[in-house]
Amino acid sequence: MTSTFEGQMTADQLRDTFTGFFAAKDHTVVQSASLIPHDPTVLFNVAGMVPFKDYFVGNEQPPFKRATASQKCARAGGKHNDLDDVGRTKRHLVFFEMLGNFSFGDYFKEAAIPYAWDLMTESVEQGGLGFDGDKLWITVHESDDEAEHIWHEQVGVPMERIQRLGDKDNYWQMGDTGPCGPCSEIHIDRGPAFGPDGGPLLDPTGDRFMELWNLVFMQFNQSADGTRTALPKPSIDTGAGLERILALKQGVDSVWETDLMQPLIDEAQSITGHKYIVGDYDDRASFAMRVLAEHARSSTMLVNDGVFPSNEARGYVLRRIIRRAVRFAYLLGTDKLVMPRLVEVAGNVMGQAYPDVTKNMGFITDVIGKEEERFRHTLKNGLAILDGELNDDTDKLSGSTAFLLHDTYGFPLELTQEIASERSIDVDLDGFNADMTAQRQRAKAAQKGGADAGAIEGFRDVLDQFGVTEFVGYTDDFADCRVLAILDGPADADGNATVDIFVDRTPFYAESGGQIGDTGTITTDSGTATVLDTTFALPNLRRHNARVTDGTVSVGQTGTASIDVLRRDAIRRNHTATHLLHYALRHVLGEHVKQAGSMVGPDRLRFDFSHYDAVTPAQIKQIEDIANHETLGNMPTRIFETTKDEAEALGAIAFFGDKYGDIVRVLEAGSTIELCGGTHVRATGDIGTIKVVSESSIGSNLRRIEAVSGDASVALLQRDESLISEVAQMVGTQADDLLGGVQRKLDEVKGLQDEIKALRSQLAAGRASELADIAVEGVVVTQVDGLSPGDLRELAIAVRQTPGIQVVVLVGETDTGGVSLVGAVAPGNPKPASLLIKDAARAVGGGGGGKGDIATAGGKDPSGIAEALRIAAEAVPQVL
Ligand code: SER
Repeated sequence: MTSTFEGQMTADQLRDTFTGFFAAKDHTVVQSASLIPHDPTVLFNVAGMVPFKDYFVGNEQPPFKRATASQKCARAGGKHNDLDDVGRTKRHLVFFEMLGNFSFGDYFKEAAIPYAWDLMTESVEQGGLGFDGDKLWITVHESDDEAEHIWHEQVGVPMERIQRLGDKDNYWQMGDTGPCGPCSEIHIDRGPAFGPDGGPLLDPTGDRFMELWNLVFMQFNQSADGTRTALPKPSIDTGAGLERILALKQGVDSVWETDLMQPLIDEAQSITGHKYIVGDYDDRASFAMRVLAEHARSSTMLVNDGVFPSNEARGYVLRRIIRRAVRFAYLLGTDKLVMPRLVEVAGNVMGQAYPDVTKNMGFITDVIGKEEERFRHTLKNGLAILDGELNDDTDKLSGSTAFLLHDTYGFPLELTQEIASERSIDVDLDGFNADMTAQRQRAKAAQKGGADAGAIEGFRDVLDQFGVTEFVGYTDDFADCRVLAILDGPADADGNATVDIFVDRTPFYAESGGQIGDTGTITTDSGTATVLDTTFALPNLRRHNARVTDGTVSVGQTGTASIDVLRRDAIRRNHTATHLLHYALRHVLGEHVKQAGSMVGPDRLRFDFSHYDAVTPAQIKQIEDIANHETLGNMPTRIFETTKDEAEALGAIAFFGDKYGDIVRVLEAGSTIELCGGTHVRATGDIGTIKVVSESSIGSNLRRIEAVSGDASVALLQRDESLISEVAQMVGTQADDLLGGVQRKLDEVKGLQDEIKALRSQLAAGRASELADIAVEGVVVTQVDGLSPGDLRELAIAVRQTPGIQVVVLVGETDTGGVSLVGAVAPGNPKPASLLIKDAARAVGGGGGGKGDIATAGGKDPSGIAEALRIAAEAVPQVL
């Protein structure tokens, strides 16, 4: 079916008419808020008033007293849930827009009622919606005399078209808690073709007296315990379903034939090859196509606002919506993906009013397409199981089957319930819940297994929900991206808390193959996260460990991921340099050289390899020469993908420890050809100079070289050059005469040392004779400070040589603050000299010895020197 909406009010015009009417009455036109509410008590924005809740209940001062909006709403889950009805009726939708006007303690019923009437009945030319007032019926709450009075007396609606209904129909609550109040609804009589006469009160389906607009007289705030307290001021919240009014304005029977839905139904027909029969609510195929149309549009809008398919809360509802659609597509016989095409159409339909949908289209189709793909893997087998179980003899599907379908085949419970109910079969919910609880407990127990099990679980969820991270960093330094998930990360080096950010596309290289992870920033409208490191959380899932350094960064936001380009350039140079060094090492040392590991960072590279001997300086020079010959050749590098076999045939060498699939990435740089997943320079000349800075052993037959390239090589040269000139200056010469200058200094030092030695022995001889002079009966026991132990010993020997000296004991504080003791007896004395100082040494906290006629000892405590001398003196008789 094709239809045009020429000459009729379009969705875009309807929004403008509605909000324009109220703007002219001093209402501020407010842009639609996100479908994800700030308010935690509801899963989605279920009505136009949700974004204004805090104004109604008085938590926040409204910036305006009157507002109007066309608000995006979703009703799927919780108190307001239309999901299971979608497709079955003429007007139930998960996603819809609610037109509304709001008064925050400003006007009340007396103004809200006439406003609504005027907008409904004024002609389109006058700026109204042009409905026939005689066809409009009104309901009011059974207790609300005031509203009835206004409708009848002030507006002039005859009493026979005003009906009173109870709480079920005419009392409105946002959720289990929140603002609420009695309401009054405007219905339109679509004529006898749509049902029996008698007004909304007697209309079983609501098809004939269709509800168009709900005016809520907000007066209370409902608490969790059921009590209601009065709002600070009575307020007004009205809501009119855009799609329903549109259907009437476009002269069609249901929302499905409006300009918002028809293009989607058309696309569903063209994809499935089935024919849509307008108004046929029994035809399975038409039912299925309505589901496809609605669910494509609602999932588009949800993903656009940052909801992702998952197993939790909103994400789970989205998953249910997509999987319900996929199951209907499958029933219609499609085995290819249908959602991406439908989502594109939904994007066209909604893009005018919500330009961000157009902007995010690629991402939205990707997310929904992936979810469809995932479910299609298991759908067929799951349905076969279900078919087998849902036979005529059953009236209840076992909870364990429902759980198996949920757990292994990804069937949301509600989907299983819907399929079972198509055959009038119930699902054993208790059984299902019991299995679910048991599984949660098992998962909890398993998580305790390893310290990081919880984190890995979190990463898995991210991978499961969003699939692999798209990496654009081989070619791009920055990328538009969307923040998919933020998890708590490890503390950084300063102990500050960091987070792990996951995005859909990234230029950040995640540490692998020896190459270090990139750093940089992820910036959104509201803030910046500084990425400190990038690693693989799981294969193909890139984790940006980051600290939010400015504002906030939130899940669902779009932004820009930018790497630190200068740092990456340095890494590129070092990575390609590593390949060239590898080549040079094999050339110089032999083919036995095998890579055992590597670390490629921005400031240096490290390369570990097998070799049986130290690499000599001459070999290092040769290796550097070969590597730099390659850089000077300035050959363009070439990166290509090929099969493993082909790469092997080309002679490519594989880096140690990396995993390669069947298709491998090959780097050709100068004379080298190697398998590599890293980032590289465009031509070898980009590397600059390669300089080896160290060579060492890291194990038996394992060597390590470290090297620098690019700027770092220049910095190294500059550092060495200034070192040389400083040294030259110190030795009083020019840099090019440095060796001669240093040699002259060394000769000078040698001459001075000889001189010192001669002077010292002269000095010692003088000292010795002084000491010999104080001998009493050939015995000298005295303190001599300030000499080294060696000099003290020499002095003792010199004293002993003086004729008549039998015993010498010298004790003193040494030139370095310790204590030295020397004992000597005349040569030929059979008693060991150690007898003199053995006990004395203890007094200075030390010990020592010697067998012959000279003994030395050391101590630590100069305060014991006097005591030591006393003990030594007492020991003298032992050697005489
Ligand atoms: N909150 C009311 C409703 O959703 C009126 O906007 O119907």
